[in-house]
Amino acid sequence: MKYTESRYGPWALVTGANSGIGAAFAENLASQGYNIAVVGRRADAVQAKADHLAEVYSVDTQTVVVDPSAPDFLTQLIEQTKSLEIGLLVSNAGDDAMGALLRVELPELKRMLRLNTQTHLELIHHFGRLFEQRGSGGILIVSSTAGLQGTPFVGNYAGTKSYLLNIGMALNYEMRGTGVDVTVVLPGPTKTPGLIEKPAIPLHSLPAPKMSPEAVAKIGLRALAKNKPFVIAGVLNRMVANMGVLLGKVRARNLWGAVMKGIVPTKLRLR
Ligand SMILES: NC(=O)c1ccc[n+]([C@@H]2O[C@H](COP(=O)([O-])OP(=O)(O)OC[C@H]3O[C@@H](n4cnc5c(N)ncnc54)[C@H](OP(=O)(O)O)[C@@H]3O)[C@@H](O)[C@H]2O)c1
Repeated sequence: MKYTESRYGPWALVTGANSGIGAAFAENLASQGYNIAVVGRRADAVQAKADHLAEVYSVDTQTVVVDPSAPDFLTQLIEQTKSLEIGLLVSNAGDDAMGALLRVELPELKRMLRLNTQTHLELIHHFGRLFEQRGSGGILIVSSTAGLQGTPFVGNYAGTKSYLLNIGMALNYEMRGTGVDVTVVLPGPTKTPGLIEKPAIPLHSLPAPKMSPEAVAKIGLRALAKNKPFVIAGVLNRMVANMGVLLGKVRARNLWGAVMKGIVPTKLRLR
């Protein structure tokens, strides 16, 4: 089903495209005929994903090996993609340093803050201007349902995901009439290496069903095609989010605090 290809042009750029949700976006877009710029830190994984997409979907691919959390990330990315007509940005790469805020080292928290906010800002600003000039384009920003409240033990992460939701919502409004679609997608727990293989907190044992990354990518791209300001991935995640609204911010935080406390190791708590 080619619902985005004709709208946004020949190339899609996906950050964190070699794993999890980013890989699912890359796969979905390649299956629609998009050429894919595969962005990630690990050269071997990036190359493997690019080769796979080219072979399975007969599309062109470009490897972009950069660390999205590095300060000169945007300059490097622009240099490596300047010959491509990118029409769709999937700003996905993200991570977390988990545990009670005071149990995580400050440099690590700052690195996550940069990766989950400033990197997205730089990408959105750069490609947003290009797309505005061209009069067409799509920007998909990957946030999280954790950003809907001050989620304990992932407070820094929750703050960054809230930032993404708000910046994306504002941009969607500001870009009305420019031909550029902007959507923020909020996944809940999703079966990815990022969730399953986290060493610090066993997030996979959260008492909640986990969605597939493919389902999240499909929902995100459908919402983008309709230029929805945001979409919460999955009926259950929407129900939980609505319950949070009904409970109010403090009680929703308390509920998530109790859930997280059940899985956070003692050494990552204050008491
Ligand atoms: N999985 C979930 O339950 C869930 C829920 C809500 C939101 N999300 C969001 O969805 C996005 C993708 O997450 P995922 O679960 O698919 O994660 P993942 O499987 O770990 O994949 C993340 C991708 O981003 C890159 N990346 C990871 N850590 C990085 C770091 N510290 N610095 C720079 N690049 C890094 C990785 O590529 P390289 O290692 O090659 O750079 C990888 O391709 C993130 O923004 C995450 O916050 C995930």
